[in-house]
Amino acid sequence: MTKSIEGLKAFQRSLGVCYYPEQWDRSVWQEDARRMVEAGIKWVRIGEFAWSRLEPQPDKMVWDWLDDAIEILGAAGLKVVLGTPSATPPRWMIDCYPDMLAVDEKGQPRKFGSRRHYCFSHAGYRREAVRMARLMGERYGRNPHVAAWQIDNEYGCHDTILSYSNAAQVGFRDWLSQLYGSIAVLNEAWGNVFWSMDYDSFKQIELPNMTVTEPNPSHVMAFRRFSSDQVVRFNKEQADALRELTDAPLIHNYMGRVTEFDHYDVGLDLDIASWDSYPIGFLSDRLEESEDHKLRFLRQGDPDFQAFHHDLYRAVGKGRWWVMEQQPGPVNWAPFNPAPLDGMVRLWSWEAFAHGAEVVSYFRWRQAPFAQEQMHTALLRPDHVEARGLLEARQVAAEIAADEALQAPAIVQAPVALIFDYPSQWAWDTQPQGADFDYFRLVFETYRALRALGLSVDILPKRGNLTGYKLILAPGLMTLEGLALSSTDATVILGPRSGVKTEELTFPMPLGPNLVGLDCTVSLTQSLPPSVAVPLDICGHGGRWLESLEGDFEVVAKTQSGEAVLVKNDGKWHYLSIWPDADAWRAILTPLCAAEGIETVALPDGVRLRDTANHRFVFNYNPEPVKWGGETIPAAGVSWKKR
Ligand code: GAL
Repeated sequence: MTKSIEGLKAFQRSLGVCYYPEQWDRSVWQEDARRMVEAGIKWVRIGEFAWSRLEPQPDKMVWDWLDDAIEILGAAGLKVVLGTPSATPPRWMIDCYPDMLAVDEKGQPRKFGSRRHYCFSHAGYRREAVRMARLMGERYGRNPHVAAWQIDNEYGCHDTILSYSNAAQVGFRDWLSQLYGSIAVLNEAWGNVFWSMDYDSFKQIELPNMTVTEPNPSHVMAFRRFSSDQVVRFNKEQADALRELTDAPLIHNYMGRVTEFDHYDVGLDLDIASWDSYPIGFLSDRLEESEDHKLRFLRQGDPDFQAFHHDLYRAVGKGRWWVMEQQPGPVNWAPFNPAPLDGMVRLWSWEAFAHGAEVVSYFRWRQAPFAQEQMHTALLRPDHVEARGLLEARQVAAEIAADEALQAPAIVQAPVALIFDYPSQWAWDTQPQGADFDYFRLVFETYRALRALGLSVDILPKRGNLTGYKLILAPGLMTLEGLALSSTDATVILGPRSGVKTEELTFPMPLGPNLVGLDCTVSLTQSLPPSVAVPLDICGHGGRWLESLEGDFEVVAKTQSGEAVLVKNDGKWHYLSIWPDADAWRAILTPLCAAEGIETVALPDGVRLRDTANHRFVFNYNPEPVKWGGETIPAAGVSWKKR
């Protein structure tokens, strides 16, 4: 598969850094810029938290420092990414709009004193954010040094999407009335006959928090969709304002394992997706892995977590994506914060490039000696001395410069597509049914199983273009609506828990998955505690989730007690009714890949491959060297060969 994604050839792989001129004396800006350029850095992101220094009092703008900073950085040869500062509304803003603060599930407003304290539904704050974006666009939209824009910073970080504020309540009622038209339709769609939950008017509907026991899942699901739409609108309003004032690309920096809003929807209004990659922080803070795994990869990060997000954000960015923030050393925010093994900053950077990143930008240039992130390392120490991360960044810059073949992102379509769908996450959060059923985890483990076989994977939205893929997987997909299976002759694996609900999070009639072409119905669902491992006849075990299947199908795999767990039609569509472990995944995937002519390899633990148009990259996440493919890859090392 070497279908190039058109139009990307013009972009070059390069490095960037996040910089906060407002946090340092002006006298050091010039020298900082010179040192960045000397290290091989081409991009510098500034401004995204600077509201209080740009507008210290309402309507009293202070631009001179930002004018100078942009001029100094640009004159040194750096391209500037300018951030809109809407993630950090200044203190005076709260006096203007006391009700703009987001409200948590217990009804408590979140306080000023850190960041992301706004509610996406608050019309007054939205107007302020757009006003600021417009002022910045008017001043810098045609500035030759400002080569890209970042809108806001990490939507959803610190658990900030769901807000139970008055503004959200008013907005939710309006959103519902537009969607359903009449209250009778909503009552019917949600099944409000149950527990006498019928409403007489949209005005009676509250937000689904603080109920005595669980609220109606349809109500929660609607609120989750509404909350996601608030983010999309918030972002779009700033994007629309900037579009009129600049031709530079618009970007947002998403986070790792933040799933509370639909990133694909936000991405439609932007030109480039980016994300903030903190592999060691994420390993301890965001993954349900064993203690052994976490110890083994303590200083390297999980071997699949970064790659998963690279592949996801490539789809969110419609092909164009960056790492906007790359961990350069210990962070400050995980339960424990070890230093990366020597080599890992380089490995993470090359891994991003191998997955198609145009830019890898380190967070941050110099460690702050004050405030919340003073323990977070950077490329320079707080005393301006070079830190380990800069050494490795410099090495990456030199490697890019030395080899023309490494300079373009060179993405090719992967043989395998894996569907990732945000509403499915909300559905199974709302109705887990088993205490540890998590959609992200299910999709991520599927991804890990594919990568353990050496496969390059494209992650796609449910409505993505499936043509050209040989193998398509859609685990845990709440509904199949929009999944264009008829456009493909690939081998398809749906399930577990795919196509079994409506968009309202109720049962479809007839029962799902309702696939024309695969006669298979889920007749009973069980969830199992993590200690229960169901042995399978192929190899390995399944667990957590077990669906009983009815229909006229061929059984490909079953439990040792004879219950069908992988079934197929007379073509190549499969339904999987259990959550497989790693061995079971291998036993399922290996023959299906072979039948499609997809090459698989048995990789050592912690070794991963990624194919681009012109190279095969090998990454060794292990703390010791590994012999593989006729070469020895050093601990925390990366190698590549032309292909
Ligand atoms: C990111 C954020 C940065 C900084 C960084 C620290 O989530 O965008 O501003 O806080 O984390 O690791």
